[in-house]
Amino acid sequence: MITNNLPYSVSTSISKKQYSQYALPEYLAEHYWWAYLSPKGVKFFDRPYIVNRILWGQYHKIAQDAVNLFSSENELVITQQKVAGISCAYGEFFPKLAAHNNVSQLYLFDIAPIQLTQIQKKIPAPLLDKKCQLFLSNAEQISMADRCVDSAILFFLLHELPEFSRANVLSETIRITKAGGRIIIADYAENKDKHFFNRVKVFNSVFEKLEPFLGDFWRCDLVAELSAQAKRHGRTITMLSERYYFHHFYRLLEFRLE
Ligand SMILES: C[S@@+](CC[C@H](N)C(=O)[O-])C[C@H]1O[C@@H](n2cnc3c(N)ncnc32)[C@H](O)[C@@H]1O
Repeated sequence: MITNNLPYSVSTSISKKQYSQYALPEYLAEHYWWAYLSPKGVKFFDRPYIVNRILWGQYHKIAQDAVNLFSSENELVITQQKVAGISCAYGEFFPKLAAHNNVSQLYLFDIAPIQLTQIQKKIPAPLLDKKCQLFLSNAEQISMADRCVDSAILFFLLHELPEFSRANVLSETIRITKAGGRIIIADYAENKDKHFFNRVKVFNSVFEKLEPFLGDFWRCDLVAELSAQAKRHGRTITMLSERYYFHHFYRLLEFRLE
C-alpha cells in the first residue's frame, strides 16, 4: 500500500521551499533519471546480478551483512524493530529485510513513484500487507514523526546526494530515530587514495563522471557530519561497528543514537 502522509513535524534546514515536497529533486532528475526514473532504466538496473556487478561483486555480501545487523545476537536489537528504509534500493536488500523475523514494521519511502511501484513488486504480498508501509516522501523532509523508529537504514543513498541534501537527509534520519536506536549506513568508504580505483586517474574520473557527487562524498568526514547533525538535535551518536569491503572501497557502518 502506498500512503502519502503529510509530515507531523519537520526540522530540516529547508526553510522556504519553493516547490512541492513531493517534487523530484533536481539532482535526481538531472543526473540519475536514466537509473531511477526511466522505466527502461528501472527494468534494467533492478536485478541483483546487475547491482552486484556495479558494486564489483560486493553487493550480496554487503546486503546480507546489513540484514544480519538485525539478528537477535546483536545486543541492540530488541525483537520487533520498527525500521525506516531511507529510500528504495535495487536488488533483494529490502525484500530480505522485510522478511526478517525481528523486523515488525518496515517504513519504506522514496521520492520517485516508479521506485515505490517497483519495490511493491519485489516484496511478497503477504509481507507487504503485514509489515510494510510505503510512502511518497523526500528523504530531506521525511513524512514521519520524531523518534518513531528503532532503526533507520541508508543503503547507498548518501553518495548520490549533493552536500546540502546529504546534510538534510542525515538530519532527518536522526530526527525520526528513537533514543537508543540505530542508524545503519552502507555506502562507499572514504577515499584515502589507497584503493587501486582511487589511485588510477582514469578510473577515478569514470566514477566521478557517472556519480557526480561521489567525489565530495569520498572526501567528506561522514562521522563528523553525523555528529554535527546529532548535536543540532541535542543528541549524540556513537559508532558501534564498521565493516569494510573490496579493500576499503565500500563500508557498512552501525551507529547508536542517544
Ligand atoms: C538509495 S539509492 C540506491 C542506490 C543503489 N544503486 C541501489 O539501488 O542499491 C537510489 C534511490 O534513492 C531515491 N532518492 C534519491 N534522492 C531521494 C530523496 N531526496 N528522497 C527520497 N528518495 C530519494 C531514488 O529515487 C532511488 O530510488
